[in-house]
Amino acid sequence: MTTLTLRGVRKTFDGRVEVIRGIDMDIADGEFLVFIGPSGCGKTTLLRMIAGLEHITGGDISIGGERINDVPPSKRGVAMVFQSYALYPHMTVAENLGFALKLAGQSRQEVKAAVGRAAEILQITPLLDRKPKELSGGQRQRVAIGRTIVRKPRVFLFDEPLSNLDASLRVQMRIELSKLHAEIGNTMIYVTHDQVEAMTLGDRIAIFNAGKIEQIGPPMELYEQPGNQFVAGFLGSPRMNFIACTPGGATGDTLQLVAGEAGTVSWPGKLPTPAPSEVVLGIRPEHMTVTRVEQGLAARIDLVEHLGDTLIVHATLRGSDNTVSLRLPADHEGLSAGLDIGLSPQTERARLFDGDGQALAVGS
Ligand SMILES: Nc1ncnc2c1ncn2[C@@H]1O[C@H](COP(=O)(O)OP(=O)(O)OP(=O)(O)O)[C@@H](O)[C@H]1O
Ligand SMILES: [Mg+2]
Repeated sequence: MTTLTLRGVRKTFDGRVEVIRGIDMDIADGEFLVFIGPSGCGKTTLLRMIAGLEHITGGDISIGGERINDVPPSKRGVAMVFQSYALYPHMTVAENLGFALKLAGQSRQEVKAAVGRAAEILQITPLLDRKPKELSGGQRQRVAIGRTIVRKPRVFLFDEPLSNLDASLRVQMRIELSKLHAEIGNTMIYVTHDQVEAMTLGDRIAIFNAGKIEQIGPPMELYEQPGNQFVAGFLGSPRMNFIACTPGGATGDTLQLVAGEAGTVSWPGKLPTPAPSEVVLGIRPEHMTVTRVEQGLAARIDLVEHLGDTLIVHATLRGSDNTVSLRLPADHEGLSAGLDIGLSPQTERARLFDGDGQALAVGS
């Protein structure tokens, strides 16, 4: 079993800044876990700590129940694929794939078998005799992944492995990676800045912020039930809209939320007691529609973007500098910059946050 366990893991560089500030995590055998978070929040550092390339300042890392804090990188059974990988330019694909095994003293037959198997999985068998400069970007990336497969690691760590590829190759490689995981079933951790990769590849996503995990869970759970405003704003593009509101009176089971001069939203539910004096309504761009200005929250269109399959409308709420965006069907007509519109949020899809950005448990 290759469960990976992190307990109170910390990292301070040069005794100064604490970059990893206490990570507790259990990654199941065969799980595909995605890390996302802003630049500089510590994703690469944590992967390097798991791989043994970076000393751990505090806490414990275990694989299959064995504490590996002091186990050297080569003995951990962990392999890392970096964003910028370097293939040996003077070696063929086959030699690149087999180099680490040869270095480890494996026989020619063993190396050949391992290389053949990896090439088959990654569908690069016809390329084995080529040199790296004769390969496309995606093919080179596959060779880089192949080099880690041949080592039969217990755990794969990927640090933005596709970020150097163009859009169509990324899509192709993303599908290949999913297939690879289904076929070899190893435990994998995958760092990305790409929303689609995060949502589609992972069994779970861990969202990092400043050296800590904000939330960890299945992609749709994080998307639909973010525990706080940071997570809500990080997943999704355009990001979730946040509208500051003051709770007004309640009529039966419906609460009125007043968004300043823009107007009032009816919320089908009750606030917890004591009720906060200010709340933030979180609503995704695809969960708002356009109505007449007197029927919804009043806003003025700043920009309309045609993306081919959808329309993104950017607008500013009346009486504030609160900007919002809407995702509408591509054939929606009659919208242009400068137009006053009403926004109609599907409140049953919305989320409410308190003044500290924590999601409110809203009763009904
Ligand atoms: N060797 C080092 N010495 C000192 N500080 C470091 C070192 N390596 C990384 N850091 C700092 O640690 C923090 C986390 O860096 P890290 O590379 O882990 O971020 P990241 O989440 O991978 O970011 P990105 O998304 O940009 O790749 C940053 O503030 C970085 O400057
Ligand atoms: Mg990084």
